[in-house]
Amino acid sequence: MRIVDIIEKKRDGGELSTDEIAFFITNYTNGTIPDYQVSALLMAIYFQGMTSKECADLTTAMIYSGDTVDLSAIKGIKVDKHSTGGVGDTTTIVLAPLVAALDVPVAKMSGRGLGHTGGTNDKFESIPGFKIELSKDDFINQVNTQGVAVIGQSGNLTPADKKLYALRDVTGTVNSIPLIASSIMSKKLAAGADAIVLDVKTGDGAFMKSDEDAEKLAQEMVNIGNNIGRHTMAIISDMSQPLGYAIGNALEVKEAIDTLKGQGPADLTELVLTLGSQMVVLGGKAATLDEARTKLQEVIANGKALEKLKVLIKAQGGDSSVVDEPEKLANAPYQIELLAKQSGYVAKIIADKVGIIAMQLGAGRGTKDDIVDPAVGIVLHKKVGDKVMQGEALLTIHANTNQLDAIKQRLYQSIEIAATAKAPKLIHKVIT
Ligand code: URA
Ligand code: CA
Repeated sequence: MRIVDIIEKKRDGGELSTDEIAFFITNYTNGTIPDYQVSALLMAIYFQGMTSKECADLTTAMIYSGDTVDLSAIKGIKVDKHSTGGVGDTTTIVLAPLVAALDVPVAKMSGRGLGHTGGTNDKFESIPGFKIELSKDDFINQVNTQGVAVIGQSGNLTPADKKLYALRDVTGTVNSIPLIASSIMSKKLAAGADAIVLDVKTGDGAFMKSDEDAEKLAQEMVNIGNNIGRHTMAIISDMSQPLGYAIGNALEVKEAIDTLKGQGPADLTELVLTLGSQMVVLGGKAATLDEARTKLQEVIANGKALEKLKVLIKAQGGDSSVVDEPEKLANAPYQIELLAKQSGYVAKIIADKVGIIAMQLGAGRGTKDDIVDPAVGIVLHKKVGDKVMQGEALLTIHANTNQLDAIKQRLYQSIEIAATAKAPKLIHKVIT
């Protein structure tokens, strides 16, 4: 087999065979095929697309390019959740203990933030003592004994994706639905879950800026998962404005605690109940989505979900007293309000711009090596559709400096106030 024949076949719109895809992935991962040929192939895929069969073959080849995690030592149906990334997306910190409180085993691998998006690992690490790096044995043992564990992506998982992603980043081929779908799904499937719930974001703060593209990506990922024999479904949710009120690591942990107490923001609560219901049904702990939702609401009301968060924090070396005393979490030295310059309704809070501002305050990473400040970030007081009076606080900036003129200026440019506005729909679609 020759890589140049594979490139030409895809360039001319042909369908690559299982063997051709396996050949390309194996030999790219081991360094036999050079970057320039793979760049050409990626560009051909970008323009010609891939069939569902090719996508499944590509995903499978990427899964087996490295180690896979065997979760068979964990009893029950392991359900994983994956979000395509957003701003202020606190769902995992709420969902993991919530779903575990209904005895669905949660073995979650999560990532760090990059650019305008935050990462679950950074959020958990804002809890004093919390360790996100567990050995594989400790991880599995913790899920079996405590029902829940969260671990950073570790080891030699999907090395093909690491190489391909880095190459795509510099060759203008990131934004290809088959390439994104196989990249995400290979990592999820290599991580060993039996069933997968995908939260595909749409809007300014998301990878996919339109509903149409978000739906195509979601459908492709659902096809891949089901093709490979893992029950997969997706919801498409709004990321035109940040999720919830808090953006920033310790601030989002506080928000997650509030949500587990039944006092969280309406949108975050609704998203968590929607995703959680799907996970509980896939996990076999409820027959219908309605039954699952009722059960989730019960464990929020009776405190069992909050208790599970304490169990998770303690098991991973963290100080679980922060759950009852969230003021023990890191606090920024300066908390400065941004006041509305006019009265009206909030019409836009542009998610990616606000995410970048939070990153510049220190809540996120511009490059992989940046160090995150757990205390800083932004807490919104108004969301899209809310009425605001001139002089009222739109949000509070939590910062480690009071030199915030430039930040304030950019926040004003990220928020629009108009004569009328209504809240965006949160759940755009469910794909099963
Ligand atoms: N996230 C991924 O993991 N891969 C992509 O290609 C895009 C987003
Ligand atoms: Ca939030």
